[in-house]
Amino acid sequence: MMALDLARALDPVLLARDCGLEPDLWQANLLRSNPRRALLLCSRQSGKSTVAALLVLYAVLFIPAAQIVVVSPTQRQSNELFRTIINFLSRLHEAPRLTAESTQRAELSNGARILALPGTEKTIRGIAGVDLVVMDEAARVEDELLTAVRPMMATKPESRLIALTTPAGKRGWFYEAWVSDEGWERVKVPASACPRITPEYLAEELRALGAIKFSEEYELEFHDPEEAVFPLTVIEAAFSQEVQPLWM
Ligand SMILES: Nc1ncnc2c1ncn2[C@@H]1O[C@H](COP(=O)(O)OP(=O)(O)OP(=O)(O)O)[C@@H](O)[C@H]1O
Ligand SMILES: [Mg+2]
Repeated sequence: MMALDLARALDPVLLARDCGLEPDLWQANLLRSNPRRALLLCSRQSGKSTVAALLVLYAVLFIPAAQIVVVSPTQRQSNELFRTIINFLSRLHEAPRLTAESTQRAELSNGARILALPGTEKTIRGIAGVDLVVMDEAARVEDELLTAVRPMMATKPESRLIALTTPAGKRGWFYEAWVSDEGWERVKVPASACPRITPEYLAEELRALGAIKFSEEYELEFHDPEEAVFPLTVIEAAFSQEVQPLWM
């Protein structure tokens, strides 16, 4: 390992800078603490997918033959995070080479593998020996998906699970975990804590979304189902696999 790599192994913030990014304080703290189990409850556009991609990059470089899975409610969203990861990789000098790549799968010359998966539990069974699972929009994945993902990590005690999301009501596994006393690292980043989100933008969003939706997406409130922003049929459509969420 080169001296350069050792510096980055010790401080992943340097790795973020190699990708042209100066991490926000909470992003830097998360990169440095690299927790085994983390719940990130973060505003829209706060940089949660970005920091997750950096955690993947770190795993690719510093876990031997890292097996990494990216999952979200839809294949499209998983692919988007996958693209961010590949883009970061391409910005690094002396990074392991891609030996195989598709829109949802990459293999690297150091044995690392990254898989972007759809949000349906049936199609993801049988994947094992995973070192890192990143679950994007985690409050919007089916509970069964978490049940399907956990065994992927069963054989590796050091494996990591990072779930990132805005709230989606007082329901589902993410909400239950967030309010539980289980041993998760919890990170909460409202829009007001993000230096790139301006008061003008927030005022515009408040007008466009209405107070309840705004408090969910930017102030991270979990709402009771009765205070639902949309009629229930619309919400159910948004949670189903066939229909894209309306606000995406
Ligand atoms: N530390 C940073 N410095 C500069 N730009 C950043 C930083 N973190 C994130 N960004 C940029 O902010 C934008 C939003 O980041 P990202 O997509 O990671 O946010 P998100 O919380 O996942 O948003 P969404 O809720 O829409 O999925 C992107 O353009 C990203 O490049
Ligand atoms: Mg995102």
